[in-house]
Amino acid sequence: MAYVTLKDVTKIYDGDVLAVEQANFEIPDESFTVLVGPSGCGKSTILRMIAGLEEITGGDIYIDEERINDIPPKDRDIAMVFQNYALYPHMTVYKNMAFGLKLRKYPKAEIEQRVNEAAEILSISHLLNRKPKHLSGGERQRVAVGRAIVRHPKVFLFDEPLSNLDAKLRVQMRMEISRLHDRLDATMVYVTHDQVEAMTMGDQIVVLNEGKIQQIADPGTLYHKPANQFVGGFIGTPPMNFIETQIVNNSGTPALRFENFKVEMNGHLQSALNTLSEDSVTLGIRPEDIHVGENGKNSVDTQVELVEPLGNHALLYLRTETSNFVAQSDLIDLPQHNASLTVNFNMDKAHLFHPETGESLTAT
Ligand SMILES: Nc1ncnc2c1ncn2[C@@H]1O[C@H](COP(=O)(O)OP(=O)(O)O)[C@@H](O)[C@H]1O
Ligand SMILES: [Mg+2]
Repeated sequence: MAYVTLKDVTKIYDGDVLAVEQANFEIPDESFTVLVGPSGCGKSTILRMIAGLEEITGGDIYIDEERINDIPPKDRDIAMVFQNYALYPHMTVYKNMAFGLKLRKYPKAEIEQRVNEAAEILSISHLLNRKPKHLSGGERQRVAVGRAIVRHPKVFLFDEPLSNLDAKLRVQMRMEISRLHDRLDATMVYVTHDQVEAMTMGDQIVVLNEGKIQQIADPGTLYHKPANQFVGGFIGTPPMNFIETQIVNNSGTPALRFENFKVEMNGHLQSALNTLSEDSVTLGIRPEDIHVGENGKNSVDTQVELVEPLGNHALLYLRTETSNFVAQSDLIDLPQHNASLTVNFNMDKAHLFHPETGESLTAT
């Protein structure tokens, strides 16, 4: 198969829209690499540059050792699956899947063999004679994937392929695409704005924001060691809570203060502050690391703004004088709206971010 390398890849549209800024990363052979970030952050642009559908303003893209900047899309040995499927409405499923091979003048027997094999992998053999309008959304999605599979490409590119499906089908197709990846041992690059899709499918995730790479890591690292405040807030639902705090000395132990609360820092957090010259720092703490508890260590008195019961747990939207944050609770007796509630911060799980740059002080 193949690996793809991006070196200082930049894209500027129409002279002034900086869509991608100096992207540097490698898509390893047989990896499932996900590009994730909010709408407009440059995901599709990167994918389209790899496919050759968009000119590269600066930098280089390689497939294996070969620089492909000037190689036309049809010669790149890449297959792309789009969000809108882009099926030909007047052609049957068979013809849709065969079309690319026919264009490339493959022998009929070979085409037939590849289409049947792909149809079998995707469980759509019974649909080969239908036209797209007689297919459900999920079936159309499979045909679009089938059209890519028959090409036996070096690299598969997916641009938000599940966005048009309902929630349940999305979960199912997510699993199917992951299984397909295992079965084909293919290099796949998958674009999504949905962090859950990214976390569940990717073995390497590239997080983007405003055209810039924020972090490249596996799902566990992204969650537990976000490189900056953006990643901390983007990965995980509900997002990490952020609280602006002052660094103070609490009778010999360094602590963080906000309003009239003081939370103590363990050694890990203290040493993270070594490089910081400011006397304030942004505390990051995930909802599951804030526990409803007795008045005790690292406790904060809050008011309950909203309770969202989700079955196996609930989300508590809490407020202090100047801060808002969310706690996750598996209590059966949930607090009432406007109730007073004391919670404890599990500081062993806390993150610290630079108050100006948002860079993590604790990720390394
Ligand atoms: N053809 C284009 N001309 C001008 N600007 C574009 C074009 N395509 C995308 N952009 C801009 O480039 C940025 C990145 O777009 P895109 O790669 O489509 O983002 P994403 O796929 O992450 O939503 C956005 O600001 C978008 O408006
Ligand atoms: Mg896009």
